[in-house]
Amino acid sequence: MRISMIGTGYVGLVSGVGFAKHGHDVTCVDIDEDIVDSINNAIPPIYEEGLEDLLEKVVDSGKLSATTDLQNAVDKTDITFICVGTPSREDGSIDTSAIESAAEDISKALDEKNEYHIVVVKSTVTPGTTDSLVKNILESNCKKVGEDFGLGMNPEFLREGVALNDFLAPDRIVIGGWDEKTREEIEKIYESFEAPKLVTDIRTAEMIKYASNSLLATKISFANETSRICEKVGIDVYEVMDGVGLDHRVKRDFLNAGPGFGGSCFPKDVRAIRSIAQEKGVETEILDSVISVNEEQPLHTADILENELGELKGKRIAFLGLAFKGGTDDIRNTRALPMVEKLLDKGAEVVGYDPEAMENFAELIEGDMEFAESVEDALDGSDACIIQNDWSEFEELDDKDFSEMENKVLLDGRRMLDREELGENITYLTVGM
Ligand SMILES: NC(=O)c1ccc[n+]([C@@H]2O[C@H](COP(=O)([O-])OP(=O)(O)OC[C@H]3O[C@@H](n4cnc5c(N)ncnc54)[C@H](O)[C@@H]3O)[C@@H](O)[C@H]2O)c1
Repeated sequence: MRISMIGTGYVGLVSGVGFAKHGHDVTCVDIDEDIVDSINNAIPPIYEEGLEDLLEKVVDSGKLSATTDLQNAVDKTDITFICVGTPSREDGSIDTSAIESAAEDISKALDEKNEYHIVVVKSTVTPGTTDSLVKNILESNCKKVGEDFGLGMNPEFLREGVALNDFLAPDRIVIGGWDEKTREEIEKIYESFEAPKLVTDIRTAEMIKYASNSLLATKISFANETSRICEKVGIDVYEVMDGVGLDHRVKRDFLNAGPGFGGSCFPKDVRAIRSIAQEKGVETEILDSVISVNEEQPLHTADILENELGELKGKRIAFLGLAFKGGTDDIRNTRALPMVEKLLDKGAEVVGYDPEAMENFAELIEGDMEFAESVEDALDGSDACIIQNDWSEFEELDDKDFSEMENKVLLDGRRMLDREELGENITYLTVGM
């Protein structure tokens, strides 16, 4: 099928490239000309494993191209996915301005088009956004849903860092549609994907995304709160969660204690669904706690180091991992920010390193910190080291890598390394033990 993707960030570009791999003809649309040029030159504007190779293939074969011309893209395709950002507003609700602007442009394009077209929201939006706000804007010219165009909601569950793999091999595909015709057309796009498909109405599809992310965030905050109890009573929370996770009703995933969850999705999605609940007069005691545990956790993690080192003033801390997780350059809501801010506030000298996210983090941090060219440079002469995210590069570190540290204190925030293998010369600290 001929598909247009409106907004080509993590979701739009990765899905677009994935659809092209499955044989569809994809036109990517973005308002940012640099992004469009970069895609047309087969250079991914974001870092994702495997994206560079696949983008080159689909651009070279003519299966995917990019443009800023939305009208033309809608005109020459059969189905349009809206993949623009939905960031948090101050009050936690989602900022729908990019969705509204995209829908206005699509509405104008639909007016100029004679053939039936389908518009699908892939961005994460709160229940009611697609079949009220988006629908009303799309109908603001003279076309009507169900007659002239179809309307659908197809939430995306990919994880940054492994986004392409997640898109190509998803756990499930959720297809919400205004009517049968729309649902069938969206199902056709995913025909060659081997994954369970759940077909629902639009609002259910919207809610599935929020309920999923809220439950995953809840597991993480639960593991973090449990880790604080374990720290006090001298029990290893990872071993506890190994035992808990063997229960097939629970599963081990997302039960790792650490600096908390960050990124562009979990924090914003939990706050967004809480804001809808508040609007409807529903109390959200679980979600409130999930958020407050997560706000405290990076500060608590930094405290673990302070408890060991004593005074932080003048201490040189190698801070490994600035992105919100390994495998990405995304620093949105990264737990590195409150941690680094706290260390700087206490007078520590912080030298940061991340394989992909240093440029982005340098723009985010207001305090004075250094950046190192490599793990080795960051560790050289430092009094302590914190591993904040789970880049595979950090997993490969051994005792020799820490040999040039002034004091060999390591806080392994993601439990990447093995205490026994590191040996007794390194003071090995973790979250939850
Ligand atoms: N990033 C993730 O891991 C992830 C996973 C699942 C769902 N989501 C959801 O998907 C949506 C997109 O997230 P993202 O991380 O890809 O966002 P992003 O910020 O990386 O990308 C959004 C893109 O949309 C473009 N854009 C904005 N307004 C536009 C317009 N009117 N017309 C055309 N392009 C426009 C921007 O220039 C940008 O390139 C969000 O709702 C997010 O919650 C994200």
